[in-house]
Amino acid sequence: MPARTKRPAAVVLEGLGGYVPAGTVTNLDLEGRLETSDAWIRSRTGIHSRRFAAPGEATSDMAAEAASRALASAGYPEIDLVILATTTPDHPCPATAPAVASRLGLGPVAAFDLAAVCSGFVYALAQANAAVLSGQHRRVLVIGADTFSAIVNPLDRNTAIIFGDGAGAVVVGAGEEGQPGQLSAFDLHSDGSCTDLIRVAAGGSRMPVNAETSDADRYFSMQGKEVFVQAVTAMAESSRSVLQESGWQHGDVDWLIAHQANQRILNQVAGLLGIDPRKAVIHLDRVGNTSAASIPLALADHAPRFETGDKLLLTAFGGGTTWGAGTLTWPPIAVADPQQAVNERTKPWPTPQPS
Ligand code: COA
Repeated sequence: MPARTKRPAAVVLEGLGGYVPAGTVTNLDLEGRLETSDAWIRSRTGIHSRRFAAPGEATSDMAAEAASRALASAGYPEIDLVILATTTPDHPCPATAPAVASRLGLGPVAAFDLAAVCSGFVYALAQANAAVLSGQHRRVLVIGADTFSAIVNPLDRNTAIIFGDGAGAVVVGAGEEGQPGQLSAFDLHSDGSCTDLIRVAAGGSRMPVNAETSDADRYFSMQGKEVFVQAVTAMAESSRSVLQESGWQHGDVDWLIAHQANQRILNQVAGLLGIDPRKAVIHLDRVGNTSAASIPLALADHAPRFETGDKLLLTAFGGGTTWGAGTLTWPPIAVADPQQAVNERTKPWPTPQPS
């Protein structure tokens, strides 16, 4: 760990990258194996297709690709902490973040996984902000990456229609008060009495996987209707809190980047906040719900529309339950298209530079 540095005045976004795997699964593809229809999925969720990782492609592979793009966007600065938000680590043990850091050639940096399901990226960004503001770390690579195709039951129409795979990453570091890219306010919450709403029952210490474990226990499950209601209320409340702390009115928000769960959820959150739904960015139509990756992927997908200084409101809700929100302004950075294929990458992964 680096020596504690002077506490900076602010933390700013310095780079952003996203990656979605090549395999596309359309609603029509799902019609073949589930009792569902393209029309139902589009009208109830807004999703047209999603991306699935290739066989053998794990969370660390997607995380490293998104992170390398974020590092390129930031100009390959020195990183001293990696936080990887994920529900689908490569293995239950150890954490996946150290493997990603090594793969990127970042040296012996601090690296850990953070588990807050679909709120993971907002949680991780808040921790990175605090780590830099405290002077403990100078620059943090924050990644949200998930491979839900590995835990969703392909025959469960409640979940198989919604989730996809992907990764997104940002670099944040010390900056000046008022600098474009500044992270302003964060608000995080949880309610453990609702653990059963979203879960994978088996595979932990409560229910280790053994010969008696059923498929239903091994797969991801979700009580969609209840999650829908709680997600709308929680994201709206948390958003109000960060708007107030940032001194922003709802009319000041240029872009609402809410967790890409369901188009109807996004519309309702925007409506409760009094934000024009056209300011709510939509990426789920092409990639589905990518859990911890959804916010950075939505940011990377829509980056060409943002202007320096635009006010962005981020908010998410996920299993746990967990939820939160954050505000930032948009920095003058170049961001690659997350749909760019791996072999189109222009630069190799960077080698660490001595500080
Ligand atoms: N295809 C076709 N019909 C389906 C279906 C599917 N995939 N899933 C459910 N249905 C049917 C149901 O059987 C029910 O039929 P009925 O009225 O004859 O009984 C009807 O559609 C309505 O079911 P319901 O479960 O009420 O659907 P819904 O409108 O709540 O949509 C979700 C289901 C999962 C899309 C929705 O609840 C949702 O998006 N929830 C939030 C999920 C989420 O955001 N999760 C991540 C947060 S971290």
